[in-house]
Amino acid sequence: MKDEKFPIGVFDSGYGGLTVLSEFFKELPEYDFYYLGDNARSPYGTRSYETVYNYTLQAVKKLFSMGCQLVILACNTASAKALRSIQQKDLPKIDPSRRVLGVIRPSVEAIGSFTQTNHIGVLGTNGTIVSNSYPLEIKKIFPEIIVHQEACPMWVPLVENSEHQGPGADYFIEKNINALLSHEKQIDTIILGCTHYPLLMEKIKKYVPGHISIISQGKIVAESLKDYLNRHPEMEKKCSKNGQHKFFTTESPEVFTQRAKVFCEQLSSVEHVDLGTPDRIKH
Ligand code: DGL
Repeated sequence: MKDEKFPIGVFDSGYGGLTVLSEFFKELPEYDFYYLGDNARSPYGTRSYETVYNYTLQAVKKLFSMGCQLVILACNTASAKALRSIQQKDLPKIDPSRRVLGVIRPSVEAIGSFTQTNHIGVLGTNGTIVSNSYPLEIKKIFPEIIVHQEACPMWVPLVENSEHQGPGADYFIEKNINALLSHEKQIDTIILGCTHYPLLMEKIKKYVPGHISIISQGKIVAESLKDYLNRHPEMEKKCSKNGQHKFFTTESPEVFTQRAKVFCEQLSSVEHVDLGTPDRIKH
C-alpha cells in the first residue's frame, strides 16, 4: 500500500462533470482519472439536501473503493449540499488521509478578477441557488461584490436528454437569462454555476449581451487542482500518472458512450457501476 498510486476520482450527477474533466486532461495530462456519472439518478438539482448528500456519499465511497485517494465533486449541487458534511463528518471516519474537494470555492476565488462593476450573476440549479453557497462564499472573499442569482431548473434535463441543441433549449435559456439580467443592469459577469451549462454555451451566448463576461468553471477548477497538487506533495505522490482514464456510469454504458462522446473527445472505456441503496433508506 505504501507506494501504491491511484487515479483521481471525478464525480458528477451526470454528464456535466465532463466539462471539468476535459480541462483536467489539458491541465494535468499525465494523471490518471476515474469519472463517475450518476446518470440513472440525475438531475440532482431539485432533490433535497438529504438525498443529494446520500447519493454523493455513495459515489465518493465507490470511488474510494476503487482506490481513489482524492475525489473532486465536479458538480455544484453536490458541492453545495454534500461537500461540507462529507469533509467534516464522514472523511474522519472513513479515512482521514483521503480528500474530497468541490468546485464552488475555486470558482469564487477566481471571480474577483472578472468584474468591474461588482455586480455578478450566478446561474445554477435550484439546489445550488437555494443553498446560497455562491453569495455566502463570495461575501467571505469579496464583500464588495453583489451577487444576483437565478435558478435554471430545466437546463440540466435538456443536456441529460440530448435536447440542448433543440428549440426547446432556446426557450428556457432566453427566459432564465432575461430573468437574471432584469435583477440589475450593472451585471458585467455571469458565472455558470453548474458544470452542465458550458454544454449550452452556444445558446447562452445568443442571449447574453456581448459586454458581459460568461465564466465557466472547467479551466478555473483545473488550475486550482494543479495548484492543490503542487501545495500537497503528500497527496500528489499518491496519484498515478499514466495518462489513463476510465468512465463509470450508473446508467447503461452504451447510452453514456453515445451521449458523452459529444461532450468529451477523449472518451475511453465505460463501465456500469451500482451505487447500492443509500444508508438512510436501507431496510
Ligand atoms: N452538474 C451539476 C451541477 O454542477 C448538475 C446538477 C444536477 O444534476 O441537477 O450542479
